[in-house]
Amino acid sequence: MSKRKYKLKTWPKVLLVILIIVVVGSIAGYKKYQEYKYTQTYEYKLLQKYNEADTKIFLEHLTNEELDDLLSRDYNEFISHFVTCKYFMYKNLDIYLTKVISQSQDFFKYHGTDGYDYDNIVALVNTHNNEDYYVGGYKTDFSKGNGIIANKYYELGMDYIPENLVDVPITHRYSDRVQLTQEAYDAYMEMWNAAHDEEDIYLILASGYRSAKEQKQVYDEYDKSYGTEFADNVAARPGYSEHQTGLAIDVYSKECASAKTFKDSKTYAWLINNSYKYGFILRYPENKKSLTGYNYESWHYRYLGKDLAKKVHDSGLTYDEYYAYYLEK
Ligand code: DAL
Ligand code: ZN
Repeated sequence: MSKRKYKLKTWPKVLLVILIIVVVGSIAGYKKYQEYKYTQTYEYKLLQKYNEADTKIFLEHLTNEELDDLLSRDYNEFISHFVTCKYFMYKNLDIYLTKVISQSQDFFKYHGTDGYDYDNIVALVNTHNNEDYYVGGYKTDFSKGNGIIANKYYELGMDYIPENLVDVPITHRYSDRVQLTQEAYDAYMEMWNAAHDEEDIYLILASGYRSAKEQKQVYDEYDKSYGTEFADNVAARPGYSEHQTGLAIDVYSKECASAKTFKDSKTYAWLINNSYKYGFILRYPENKKSLTGYNYESWHYRYLGKDLAKKVHDSGLTYDEYYAYYLEK
């Protein structure tokens, strides 16, 4: 009897001990599993190479694919500086780092800056401006419609002729013949009417579409008269001009038809504030030569269509930057 009693009292104790062992074991196992799981996270892996601040930046800004690539690289103190730039593009990381940082002396001298201006490097590299002009072999992507780009990197080609060119009537032009695409012309006339109604401004076109052959004449004339450096600052080489798209205009007004003083005119002020509403943007703004490739041209506007022109205007970017970040594949 007493033996049985002993047995009955012992079993619950044994069960309790087993239960405790199982619970403690499970907790320890779970903890170990959690620890293991953490070692598999990007946070843990990044922290093996980078400090907490950099790790936070990478986790916030990069996709998993980009994080995988980053982890396969050696530590680099510059990466987090680039990643936080508004227009950082991961595909360009190597160029930001190697082509730029390692050649920083020449690069900054050339672009007139004297320190690591990361945003500037990002903008320059995104727009290919770390490369030599006219040698990259980039072809304009014509599927972009009114958003097609032509600059010192993107080539339209000698044979490109836009469709639907129309003649601008003599009352709206200075030169012998000005042509634009039908859509750009219609938008221009809408803008002409608005400028006239709102401010009594009479816009007048000096130039529109130029064939590659005509562009050659323009460029060669500058080259012959003032030398290649000057020519390249003010005119595109044939096959690379926006004028060849039929979407670019050189515009003045009755008030002012001087390239020198147009920037100070009432017409210019109106165009800067309103042209985007009709689909046009200032294509070569002041102090942006390092990005656009050209001197300031207060008279040269580019038709992009209303939606895109508003986006570009609101971004505050040159079209070269906007295209590189938002539209280039
Ligand atoms: N003047 C502009 C840059 C052109 O020649 O296309
Ligand atoms: Zn022009």
